[in-house]
Amino acid sequence: MMRSSGVSRCSSFGGRTLWRRMVAILLLVIFIWTITVLNVTFIYTSNHPKKESAVLQEEIVQLSQEYVRALAQENDGVVDGPYAGRFTAFDLKKTIAVLLESILARLDRLETHLNNITNGSFARNMPLSLVTDHERQVILSAQDLIVGKTEKCELTDQDKADFPHCLQKMQWMKQMWKSDPCYESHGVDGSDCSYVMYLSEVEGWCPRKTWTKSTGHMILEPMIYANITTNLQGVIDLLKDPNERQGYAWIRLRVTRLWPKWVKAIHNLAANQDLSKRRKQKILIHLGLLSKQSGWKFAENQFKGGPLGELVQWSDLISVLYILGHQLTITSEVEQLVQILSAVPEAKSPCQTRKELPVTIIYTDIMGLIQFKKRTGSGFSKFSCLFRIVDSFGTEPAFNHRVFAKQNKILTSWGGQDLNPRQFFTMFPHSPDNSFMGFVVEHHLNDTVSDDQPRRDIAVVYGKNEYMWEGKQAYLDVIKEHLEIHGTVFTEEGKKSNLPSYVINHGILSGPELHQLLRQAKMFIGLGFPYEGPAPLEAIANGAVFLNPRFSPPHSSKNTKFFKGKPTQREVTSQHPYAEVFVGKPHVYTIDMKNLTEVQLAVEEVLKQDTFTAYTPYEYTEEGMLQRMSAYIQHQQFCDFQHKVSKWPPSSVVTFVLGQSGQSCTQACWTKDFICEPSHFLELNSEGALRNATSICSGVGRSANIYYPSVNVDKGECTLQEDEMLFSCVGGRDNYRRLCPCRNYIPQQSALCLGCER
Ligand SMILES: *[C@@H]1O[C@H](CO)[C@@H](O)[C@H](O)[C@H]1NC(C)=O
Ligand SMILES: *[C@@H]1O[C@H](CO)[C@@H](O)[C@H](O)[C@H]1NC(C)=O
Ligand SMILES: *[C@@H]1O[C@H](CO)[C@@H](O)[C@H](O)[C@H]1NC(C)=O
Ligand SMILES: *[C@@H]1O[C@H](CO)[C@@H](O)[C@H](O)[C@H]1NC(C)=O
Ligand SMILES: *[C@@H]1O[C@H](CO)[C@@H](O)[C@H](O)[C@H]1NC(C)=O
Ligand SMILES: *[C@@H]1O[C@H](CO)[C@@H](O)[C@H](O)[C@H]1NC(C)=O
Repeated sequence: MMRSSGVSRCSSFGGRTLWRRMVAILLLVIFIWTITVLNVTFIYTSNHPKKESAVLQEEIVQLSQEYVRALAQENDGVVDGPYAGRFTAFDLKKTIAVLLESILARLDRLETHLNNITNGSFARNMPLSLVTDHERQVILSAQDLIVGKTEKCELTDQDKADFPHCLQKMQWMKQMWKSDPCYESHGVDGSDCSYVMYLSEVEGWCPRKTWTKSTGHMILEPMIYANITTNLQGVIDLLKDPNERQGYAWIRLRVTRLWPKWVKAIHNLAANQDLSKRRKQKILIHLGLLSKQSGWKFAENQFKGGPLGELVQWSDLISVLYILGHQLTITSEVEQLVQILSAVPEAKSPCQTRKELPVTIIYTDIMGLIQFKKRTGSGFSKFSCLFRIVDSFGTEPAFNHRVFAKQNKILTSWGGQDLNPRQFFTMFPHSPDNSFMGFVVEHHLNDTVSDDQPRRDIAVVYGKNEYMWEGKQAYLDVIKEHLEIHGTVFTEEGKKSNLPSYVINHGILSGPELHQLLRQAKMFIGLGFPYEGPAPLEAIANGAVFLNPRFSPPHSSKNTKFFKGKPTQREVTSQHPYAEVFVGKPHVYTIDMKNLTEVQLAVEEVLKQDTFTAYTPYEYTEEGMLQRMSAYIQHQQFCDFQHKVSKWPPSSVVTFVLGQSGQSCTQACWTKDFICEPSHFLELNSEGALRNATSICSGVGRSANIYYPSVNVDKGECTLQEDEMLFSCVGGRDNYRRLCPCRNYIPQQSALCLGCER
């Protein structure tokens, strides 16, 4: 029975050669043993034990070394795994173990005899220990192996706490290890021990236990530092357009226009914080939105009034990464992606590769991610932790988790990517579950607006298309009593406009022209749409006050067509929630458009101001974006399954807060002037932490939903989060008080905690 299973397993390794190797090892062992015994016999029969003992000692040592070396070589050829030459439980190794043990026993006996002859000096002079005590503990005796015991690779409770994914991954391996030959080539053989070894040493999901000495594949290349790079031509060369589809033309213009400001900003930043000793990253930037396959014609429409918000973000990202000194590769076509992937030999293999990947970070959008997944198939998982997804609206944990989204019927074509939610990079700090990347608010005029610059009694309306003005006349009528109303509305030639007659329409203005107008205006008037554009921030940067329409009830995917299908349940409380929450008075007045009394009062209050100050939140300046992105690149580690890198943000800036009934963690933290910090949910997901926060837990259960951990105030029941992927800052539920990890933040740099900028 043993034999037959041995044959079948061996044949899966490539059979015959293995048996030949085994026989070779066997012969070698017999040969060594014979020589050893002959030598000893010779000594016994001689009359000069003292003189010969040195020779004998030398020979034993040498032969033992040769034997072990030969064994290691043979075995290494057999299993090219991280624990090649170590001993797991499969039958070939059993045979070797028996042979090894037998020769070790013989060597032991010889040593004893020698010690007798030499009066104990042999043991003292023994130059190397072939097998350490430590290894003896780990390697089972041959007899144990023969009867089918395996090494103790059991996980302690501590291991399970430290490596929460380990058990789940082992279950997966149990089912799937035969799904691809790469697992066997790493030495996985169907035993629990081989799963633990593979998952710890190759993939990093499980603890590295005592069996391992070899860390060969973990050797890091010597650190290459990133230097600040301010040469514009370098980045323009990266943005050459081999296909002449003009895909990068708009980006090149923006990068070039803002370049002097970027250069000034990096010098300021470098003067205020240490930017040396940053690892130089190899970054792939793949603009899926510009690819032909996306079908969006982004590239073609960029100079024809197409949506540009995304291109703004990409332009600024490219500028930041280049100036910070990283090595960039920029692609926008699937063929280029394929070419890069073909340099990764095991791109399509589901196992991790121990060879170094040609990139360390990949920035793309969801379109690019989908293209990448298609090209790598089951090999995707080894790249997944390298991704940073530029995703202007954000993806909430409930939508990101494919199975959960499916069960709850909220799976959209953008959701279900199963990444770490912080791998999504948003345009505004929407939900702390994602990372806030942002962009730069462009200043077309001089940066400094003098505060006492005279302003005319005019207001500029935010709305380029006539449909945005529909139904807003009563609202505008109130404002026109105080201010002359200007519009920048696109109207087709020869067509009569439906704008109120008192509106002075300038038509579509260029950036500098619009900013010139905003410089003279006291107000910039929101009409409720478009949501969350850059224009209100530009108006505020030019000293105009933004009148921001409040939504009650808030707009969301439940009640507003625009948000349908977007992977977020976010409730948008006004046209520009960032301006409402992070800027506020005196630069932003959030009002109900339908309550004309409120509008009237707001306008009067604004006109009482005699100075209009310009304001750009630091996080929307070049310097702020450089600081934030640099901190992310330095500290965000999505591939650190072994928790080797210290936690960022550090625990010292984190406070646990028990929210009010119905509150989300985003709200619970914000009411205490903190920001929810999802990377610290794990620490408070314990019975102890819940009982610390509240005394009303009658029992503590576990469940998988975005509201946990929390306490149900009606029933006094406490529930822990069962599925780590569902830790979520957003999401509140009536009668549930959530336990939330909150952190402090730098004013005007909400993505970073105090002291986290470097
Ligand atoms: C060597 O062996 C002999 C006989 O077995 C014994 O009497 C003697 O004590 C041993 N000497 C040492 C040093 O072990
Ligand atoms: C062995 O050791 C004993 C005591 O340590 C010593 O008296 C004796 O002479 C030694 N014999 C040899 C052969 O070295
Ligand atoms: C960075 O600058 C230092 C000093 O100027 C230089 O020695 C080093 O080679 C540069 N590193 C890279 C990667 O260019
Ligand atoms: C900006 O300011 C500089 C000097 O501070 C001046 O030379 C330049 O003309 C100004 N540009 C604009 C557009 O006002
Ligand atoms: C309208 O706004 C005024 C002033 O803020 C407020 O007193 C009033 O209650 C509001 N009316 C309605 C119907 O909300
Ligand atoms: C509970 O609170 C105490 C005191 O603040 C603290 O020392 C302990 O670590 C907390 N326990 C947990 C599990 O958070």
